[in-house]
Amino acid sequence: MIKSVAIQNKLDVHAIRRQFPILNREVKGKPLVYFDNAATSQKPQVVIDALVNYYTGYNANIHRGIHTLAEEATAAYEATRDAAKQFINASSREEIIFTRGTTEGINLVASTWGRQNVKAGDEIIISTIEHHSNIVPWQVLCEEKNAVLKIIPISDSGELLMGEYEKLLSPKIKLVSIVHVSNALGTVNPVKQVIDLAHRAGAVVFVDGAQSTVHLDIDVQEMDCDFFAFSSHKLYGPTGVGVLYGKKSLLEAMPVFQGGGEMIKEVTFEKTIYNDLPYKYEAGTPNIADTIALKAAFDFVNEIGKEKIREHENELLVYATSRLEQIPGLRVIGTAKEKTSLVSFIVDKVHPQDLGILLDNRGIAVRTGHHCAQPCMIRFDIPGTVRASFAMYNTKEEIDELITGLKKAIKILS
Ligand SMILES: Cc1ncc(COP(=O)(O)O)c(C=O)c1O
Repeated sequence: MIKSVAIQNKLDVHAIRRQFPILNREVKGKPLVYFDNAATSQKPQVVIDALVNYYTGYNANIHRGIHTLAEEATAAYEATRDAAKQFINASSREEIIFTRGTTEGINLVASTWGRQNVKAGDEIIISTIEHHSNIVPWQVLCEEKNAVLKIIPISDSGELLMGEYEKLLSPKIKLVSIVHVSNALGTVNPVKQVIDLAHRAGAVVFVDGAQSTVHLDIDVQEMDCDFFAFSSHKLYGPTGVGVLYGKKSLLEAMPVFQGGGEMIKEVTFEKTIYNDLPYKYEAGTPNIADTIALKAAFDFVNEIGKEKIREHENELLVYATSRLEQIPGLRVIGTAKEKTSLVSFIVDKVHPQDLGILLDNRGIAVRTGHHCAQPCMIRFDIPGTVRASFAMYNTKEEIDELITGLKKAIKILS
């Protein structure tokens, strides 16, 4: 059980911090300040306990066994599917496919639905601010099928140019695959509008929820996306597991992804009958332990409440942005009206990587570089940025540390 982490309506950040053992450690003799949450978040004790409990208490392979351990492991694994269904409000548990993460979810759809439905001359739309994992699978598909990839441009603030998007839509468009929240800029895209317009044009929509699921309330039915993917590890859960949501009618019609155990009902040398959803897309022994522990992460976030978390993170975003903007020569990249708690910035005549190294010397973990979004960096004509991304356990005092560290680093480097 999580100890009380909320004082009335405000998040008790110190109670939250006590749930994350790693936050007690020091880096280079300084208390760790972890601002690389968009890459992966830290794990609360309840998630770590879920992993340990599985391995020490009921480690077994799932679905096939009739012994007690196998039944316990199967029940725990399938309980995560129910929790995932609830977390994103899918209409049925058959629509929840466990994957290795967002990347695998996108690749699964590109190589099943994509192979089946995209033909020569068809078009696929993505945007300028996609993560490489929402670019390359579609490029591979387009190359194979002789289809065309079209790109939605963005404004200088990092927002989609919706008028330009509408101009791209035509009966040739088979799919729109769009990031919900940009990992490089923090922009929250108007996905509902993107989806409605795409559907009117007859296209299917994939939403990359890698960065949004931890911050925003996700309701795939209300959003009406056709596919949605996210990763556990950005949501306080373990690495190596993620969820692909797909509308049942689409998942049923798609060809299989990988072949092997679990995804079949019956195999003979003449013919194989595939399993029902969701197992049709889950070949082989899955990542049982991490999937089970993902439920602990869902429960943890649900118990605190996303709204409360969002309020706290937004306060951090506003505070960090205003303090950063006061530093001479510093420019924030990505100033959309709707943002999650992430600030990307560059400093005149200073390489982001040098800043990252000097900040690490003070125990401050930020990400530097192109953030797997090179086309986005090209759009801004920069090699990369420094990115500070905030989670529920971060504090204003930590942001003060970042500002002090940055000022000292800039003095040394410029
Ligand atoms: C927007 C976005 N999409 C996709 C991914 C890929 O996620 P994963 O590496 O967990 O598969 C990331 C990871 O950083 C991301 O930020």
